[in-house]
Amino acid sequence: MSPGQPFRIIAVDGGAASGKSSTSRAISRRFHLLHVDTGSFYRALTHRLLQTGVGPENENRVRQALAALSLDTRVDGQTALLVIDGSVPGDEIRSPEINAAVSAFAALPAVRSFLLDYQRGQEAVARRCGFRGLIMEGRDIGSVIFPQADFRFFLQADPEARTRRRAEQGQTDSIRQRDQMDSQRKTAPLLCPPGAILIDSTDLSLDEVIEKMSAIIRSGHGIGTVGD
Ligand code: CDP
Repeated sequence: MSPGQPFRIIAVDGGAASGKSSTSRAISRRFHLLHVDTGSFYRALTHRLLQTGVGPENENRVRQALAALSLDTRVDGQTALLVIDGSVPGDEIRSPEINAAVSAFAALPAVRSFLLDYQRGQEAVARRCGFRGLIMEGRDIGSVIFPQADFRFFLQADPEARTRRRAEQGQTDSIRQRDQMDSQRKTAPLLCPPGAILIDSTDLSLDEVIEKMSAIIRSGHGIGTVGD
């Protein structure tokens, strides 16, 4: 980390296809932050559990299956990748099958508590690798994982705009259904936590959202962009 630059934590939450990943990735490059996509962690665990024949209806079996896994992190460029038993799951975690199943697994306290310390541990990974901070995206980052984050953003957009964006990426996704399950679950529901900065991107381009967030980060606490 550069001398005199404080380490910053930025939380980005929002519903399905609200633009969290594209904006977080761009901001991670701009400010030299480690980018952590926690949705990919829930997707990877869902994939692994389904592969082992464990469904979300039996939380005890889920808990046992998770206890047998070993988790690690590989940093690829600016991105933290979840390593499960020595390997990083690939694009199969973005399949329609995983889209349809992930929210049911993510609603289980056994799954959420299994990932809690691992997610918080990404701060130490970012510090060890010399990043200026961490940008973590998900559903409960500003409310549960890092409520003390320096910046907490919440992205939202009309469901129609989000469905269109997903289709443009060539993906089949049940956006409304996932949002409903994620918002209604008892443990760590999707919500805009009090004090978070709400950005509605329905009528904004990706670049406009990135600029808006960058301006807030720059002016808020004097965090410098790469090259400062
Ligand atoms: O990219 P997209 O918005 O489609 O979703 P994602 O971020 O990849 O997350 C996939 C699913 O993981 C969500 O629908 C949630 O059910 C779950 N998730 C969660 O519960 N908590 C998080 N911090 C991140 C994701």
